[in-house]
This record gives sequence, structure tokens and C-alpha cells, in this order.
Amino acid sequence: MDKIVIEGGKRLSGTIPVSGAKNAALTLLPCALLTDEPLTLRNLPRLADIDGFQHLMNQFGISTAIAGSRPEDFGRVMTLQATRITSSVAPYDLVRKMRASILVLGPMLARMGEATVSLPGGCAIGNRPIDLHLKVLEALGAQIEMAAGYVRAIAPDGGLPGGRFSFPVVSVGATENALMAAVLCTGTSTLHNAAREPEIVDLCNLLVAMGAQIEGIGTSDLTIHGVPRLHGATYMVMPDRIEAGSYACAAAITGGEVTLKGARIEDMEATVQALRDAGVTVEPRSDGLYVAAEGKLRPVTLSTAPFPGFATDMQAQLMALLCKAEGSSVLTETIFENRYMHVPELNRMGARIETKGRTAIVHGVDVLHGAEVMATDLRASMSLVIAGLAAQGETRVHRLYHLDRGYERLEEKLALLGAQIERIGGD
Ligand code: EPZ
Repeated sequence: MDKIVIEGGKRLSGTIPVSGAKNAALTLLPCALLTDEPLTLRNLPRLADIDGFQHLMNQFGISTAIAGSRPEDFGRVMTLQATRITSSVAPYDLVRKMRASILVLGPMLARMGEATVSLPGGCAIGNRPIDLHLKVLEALGAQIEMAAGYVRAIAPDGGLPGGRFSFPVVSVGATENALMAAVLCTGTSTLHNAAREPEIVDLCNLLVAMGAQIEGIGTSDLTIHGVPRLHGATYMVMPDRIEAGSYACAAAITGGEVTLKGARIEDMEATVQALRDAGVTVEPRSDGLYVAAEGKLRPVTLSTAPFPGFATDMQAQLMALLCKAEGSSVLTETIFENRYMHVPELNRMGARIETKGRTAIVHGVDVLHGAEVMATDLRASMSLVIAGLAAQGETRVHRLYHLDRGYERLEEKLALLGAQIERIGGD
């Protein structure tokens, strides 16, 4: 398996492009199921999860074509067309590799009147139930059956009527499944306490471009007036706010600076505020976001929360940065029950982090030491890379497949900023 080798201590400086958002792309791709016309998505990141989703769509008989792009280009253009759907089953061997496959449930149900998806199971950061996905689809009129590790959703004859649902917990995925089912309902649906993440807004914008009627976009109260059919569209995937925040932490921990081309400050206000509280300069520029850390880093206390709060997907990366702050930071992870897998590995690099339940106390240290470390999940892996960039000596990050799920050409982007980093194959 590949690993990344980093010689720490190099000050990062320069400009890098921000790729299309993984978590937007993974909910835009299944929208192809909602029409028999072509859907073209631009600025798709080159990521393992996107390739996986393309393969899943092909399983349903959906054609996918990648437009030519030069090797040096970031992002890809993909045209998907669901002229005829030959299967409405998302099999276990695909779903177990990529939990986001659950996002075909709503659109497949809306298009075909039934859908069968393997239960995704848990992952490193938590058991990640899908009860809210099923409850909201039932509220829209679906009949839900569970058997042999699969969930099957069936619409009544004549299609889903639509309905209303108030989410007891904010759920990005359940909101996405609900939206993709509601747009083709025969009636109107209302969702309360819906997720408001920028990726949800991106999904709503695509659905509207395809002819959907949605009110309240960007708020936690959404009203969807069902329409008989949707048409194709061409749509640009939003920039990845988590990737941008990750590279901001990477530049800052080295006392460097970076211009994040394409980053949108309005997508990441809570991350920007946390960086500024830590003493990092962050300024919006015409072409993106400028981030610089000259002076000492200050400790920060915050809790993760649904948007517009501080993103749980940024917790591990900020924690790595705060390992070098002067003083103790207190981070509380309120979204997932096991999202501190990076802590023992950071401590092996000389960090001093104590965890008590959902809270982590990060005592700043003067020096981090390079070490052999093990990636456990996507964002934890990035926090180890960030720490390795500032550590004295060499850091080897193993199990890179985690990183490859969420960071397009990571070592190329960091090398563009002056990092001494390389990917080596084999174990
Ligand atoms: C999405 O996951 C993202 N993944 C995650 O990013 C992100 O961490 C998460 O939203 C929160 O922002 C994609 O978009 C592909 P949730 P999702 O449903 O939709 C509980 C990354 O690193 N819950 O908002 O699965 C759940 O257990 C990944 O890019 C239920 O209880 O997250 C969690 O505690 C990691 N029942 C909370 O809600 C349900 O039916 C939020 O989960 C669904 C969720």
C-alpha cells in the first residue's frame, strides 16, 4: 500500500487551486437518476470516492462519460445519462466500500418507484445509522422494508405523495435523500430542521437547474413542490470548503502563507473565525482566500456543530494546528461519537492531547517529532500530514487510501507550496 513521506520543517508558501467539493459531488452525481436527459457535472474532483460512485451509477445502467482533460488539470467533467435504468439495487460489495452510496435511495425511489440499497454499516468515526433517511422517506409516503442487510423502499402506485418531516437531529445525508425524493413527488413536501450545509445549497441549486421547485434554500425550513419530471442540466460543483480549510491549517502550522484559489469565504466562516482566533491572518481575495501565520499561534476553544457552526470535518485538522499553539485548547466533538482516532497518532509525534469523552484538551508543545503513523479515517489522515509538515524529521503516513478518498493530488498541491513530500508505493 502507498505511503506518504514528509520531511518536516519547510515553510509553505504559494498558491494552490481548491478542487470541487467531494461532499457536494457525492450528492450531485445521484441526481442523474432523476431524469432521462444528460446531466453534465463540471469541476468534479479526481477522488477514489467519485470513481466509486461512477461505478455504482454504471451498475444501474447509467452511462457516464468523462470529457477529456489534460493531466495537469484539476477536476474533471462527467456527463451521466440514465436513459434506461436496468437495476434499482445498490449491492453490498459496493456500498460497504462507500457509505455515500446510500444517497441513491431517494432519487432511485423517486424515479423507479422502488429502490433496494445495502445497509452501509458503521465506519471508523461512528456507527452512522440511517434511521433518519428511512423516517423522512416514510413521511413522504414510502413503504420501507428491511431484509438480509438491505433496505427496500417502495412508493405507492402513482408515485410518492410527499409530506412533512421535522428532523430531530440535523442530518446532511438524510436531508439530501429527502430532497432528491421530494422533487418528483405528486404533492408538496416540507422539511424542518433540515441541514443547511453549503453542499445542501449546491444540491438545491442543481435540482432547481433541472426544473425542481424548492423554497427556503439555505435555510433549515425547505418546501419542495413536486413536479412531474426534471430535465438535464450542466452544473459546476462548488469548491471544497473542507479541503480549503485543511490546506489553510497546513500552511499555518509551518508559519507560512497560502492563497487558496477558488475558496469561498461564505462557505467557511466558522473555520475562518477559528483560524483568526488562533492568530492566523485570513483575508478574502478576488481569486479566493489568503491565509498567513507569521506570529505565535494562540489556543482556541470550540465545539463542532452543524452549519453554520464549526464543521466536524475540520476538527482533526484544526487539532493538528493547535498542537503548536501557546497554551491549551479545548475542542468538543458533538457530531460523531468516535472522531478522535488521530489523537494517539498525534501524541506519538510529541503532541500532548488528553481526551475525556467528546472533549479533547490540546496542550501546545514547542516541537513535534516525525514518526511512522497510521491513517484511520479521511480527516484523521490529513491531521497527521499537517503535523508532519511542522515536525522535526521524517513522517511516514501509512494507509493512504483514506487520504485518496478526499484530497485530490495532495502531494502535488503540497509540493507546489514547497513541502518536501513524496508518495512511495509498496509497504
Ligand atoms: C456527511 O455525512 C458528510 N459525508 C460527512 O463527511 C460529514 O462529517 C457529515 O455529513 C456531517 O457534516 C458526505 O457528505 C458524503 P449526518 P452524513 O447524517 O450525511 C447522525 C467526510 O469526512 N445520524 O449529517 O453521514 C449521525 O450518526 C465525511 O467528508 C443519525 O443518527 O452525516 C451523526 O451523529 C465524514 N441517523 C449525525 O447524525 C441518521 O439517519 C450527523 O450525521 C443519519 C445521521
